[in-house]
Amino acid sequence: MTLLRVVDVHKKYGKTEVLRGVSFEVSQGQIVVIMGPSGAGKSTLLRTINYLVPPDSGEIFFKDEKINNDLNLLRRVRSRIGFVFQHFNLFSHMTAIENVMLGLVKVKKLSRDEAYQVAMNALEIVGLTEKVNSYPSQLSGGQKQRVAIARALAMKPDLILFDEPTSALDPTLVGEVHQVMKKLALNGHTMIVVTHEVSFAKSVASRILYMEDGIIIEDSDPDSFFSQPVSQSARNFIASVYS
Ligand SMILES: Nc1ncnc2c1ncn2[C@@H]1O[C@H](COP(=O)(O)OP(=O)(O)O)[C@@H](O)[C@H]1O
Ligand SMILES: [Mg+2]
Repeated sequence: MTLLRVVDVHKKYGKTEVLRGVSFEVSQGQIVVIMGPSGAGKSTLLRTINYLVPPDSGEIFFKDEKINNDLNLLRRVRSRIGFVFQHFNLFSHMTAIENVMLGLVKVKKLSRDEAYQVAMNALEIVGLTEKVNSYPSQLSGGQKQRVAIARALAMKPDLILFDEPTSALDPTLVGEVHQVMKKLALNGHTMIVVTHEVSFAKSVASRILYMEDGIIIEDSDPDSFFSQPVSQSARNFIASVYS
């Protein structure tokens, strides 16, 4: 089943066209990895999916429903699409479990008791039951990112978007976050992941989309992408991220 369909999306900032006609589809259960150099438009593309950045033209269909600016529709769609950011975006004055409970109470309108149970369950999946009462300042970067993943997961989304979830982490903490993401993949979650991490992409991705200058120039399985990239740009990119 096609979960997401992006059709010819364009987006300009001022005179700069950051997305120049992007189209792709994501089927239920797929893990789509987006790679590409800095400035290619990867973050902008992720943000257009749930209209955090509304596209100038083009269409986005989520579960066959065309997304537009209607606030009720956006509220509903955004509650079905989780977002995990590079810099975690946790509330610093709230504990881990309060961060996870927030959307459940405010958006899903669960009682505090119900929200607590759902949040505990999500924090268990990411392996943080011992840290539920810690504040973000008391957690490592890897733990903060796992709280952010639990927060997305607790909403029981149909799709989770990850924007460079391990780029801000000390290299020693990348593994624990990737492990959690692999677990979600194995559990059948549909995910779109912007990352430069080759080993993660190779072992988890169903497909790699390679972007440059606001368009997708390669869309292939990970084996073909890494062994036989078609474009010179992808060849250079792969050489630069292999270390
Ligand atoms: N809010 C914004 N206002 C103006 N320009 C932006 C904004 N966000 C991104 N850009 C520009 O759009 C281009 C693509 O950015 P981005 O989507 O963040 O790329 P990537 O995530 O691939 O590094 C860059 O040139 C960036 O400077
Ligand atoms: Mg980015």
